[in-house]
Amino acid sequence: MDKQGLNDTMNKTTIWQVQLGEPATALSLKEAAAVLQDGGLVAFPTETVYGLGADARNTAAVQGIFTAKGRPSDNPLIVHIASISQADELVQPYPPLAAQLMKRFWPGPLTIVLPVREDKLSPLVTAGLATVGIRMPDHPAALALIERAACPVAAPSANRSGRPSPTLAAHVLEDLEGRIDGIVDGGATGVGLESTVIELADDRTIRILRPGGITQETLRAAFPHAVIEGADAAESEAAPRSPGMKYTHYAPQGELTLVQGEPAKVAAYIRVEVEKAKQRGETTGVLAFEERIAFYEGDLVLSCGSENLLEEAAHRLYAALREFDAAKVQRIWAECAPEHGIGEALMNRMAKAAGNRIIRLQ
Ligand code: TXA
Ligand code: MG
Repeated sequence: MDKQGLNDTMNKTTIWQVQLGEPATALSLKEAAAVLQDGGLVAFPTETVYGLGADARNTAAVQGIFTAKGRPSDNPLIVHIASISQADELVQPYPPLAAQLMKRFWPGPLTIVLPVREDKLSPLVTAGLATVGIRMPDHPAALALIERAACPVAAPSANRSGRPSPTLAAHVLEDLEGRIDGIVDGGATGVGLESTVIELADDRTIRILRPGGITQETLRAAFPHAVIEGADAAESEAAPRSPGMKYTHYAPQGELTLVQGEPAKVAAYIRVEVEKAKQRGETTGVLAFEERIAFYEGDLVLSCGSENLLEEAAHRLYAALREFDAAKVQRIWAECAPEHGIGEALMNRMAKAAGNRIIRLQ
């Protein structure tokens, strides 16, 4: 679209700063909720990433989400609710395991895919599937907004399709200014990666469709008698069960390569590759753990915190990918993380960002 054409579709995006306990916050949330009720688009913070919300019953509003994001229409949206009874209105009666999962992990970063009730949600939300993903976000501003709007809120991550998910209101603005009605700015999100998406394969089997904030280990510890199927099984099928998993995601504009292996070898490899790229005249970036950060000499070297604190790396990943873009870095190398705990979700997102370009050193 040329500049003039783009300007024709631009509207003003309101920013509401919110902070719990501040008198102005209640008024801001009331205004934002009214925009949702009127069929508008409002981005809001959750404990994972910022979401782009619309009334999930309103097809025109939900269509607005797909348009603003440039999202393929066959990728269903997660519906956010503020109470379990609100979820019960949207989905068919579910087995005790689903009820126990809600009780144990809501509010929190767990999306549960369940058979949807007819005529409760816009068909665009489910992209024609017979199921819907539901979650109750663990963020006071998100819960207050959903409660005030008094409707189920469909919300994908509030980024342009293909860009890293936003962990700050500034990231939302960067991608969607003029395309959405408003942003509830509640500061930085917590986990930094999207929720874990699960479905129940049967009454005692939890199938992870997308790894996330609630780790496989946490699910196993909470439900020792359940069978837990990892994300790999779901992804290896010809048609991914979580439609979003098939799209290129989170990609930085520069070419990202992950390097896996013994830390000293990884560091030596990256140093050589950075040097070669510099000689070719390319701008270089490195994303590494704090322990080895001083070792690298790229144009932009970013730390994702200590390798002993993968939660910190998860929290920083998307902002780092955006920083490489802002600096117009052409070639990026990243150290791999160990795939336990949140490391599984972290490596899932990093591999996607790298288009699966992974060098495995012996
Ligand atoms: O943490 C999160 O989950 C964030 C915040 C905003 O809540 N939301 C988010 O939404 O990541 P989105 O749209 O970026 O990702 C939703 C994922 C996609 O991979 C989609 O395919 C999957 O959930 N999904 C949604 N409904 C589904 C369904 N009925 N069956 C299988 N997968 C589904
Ligand atoms: Mg997303």
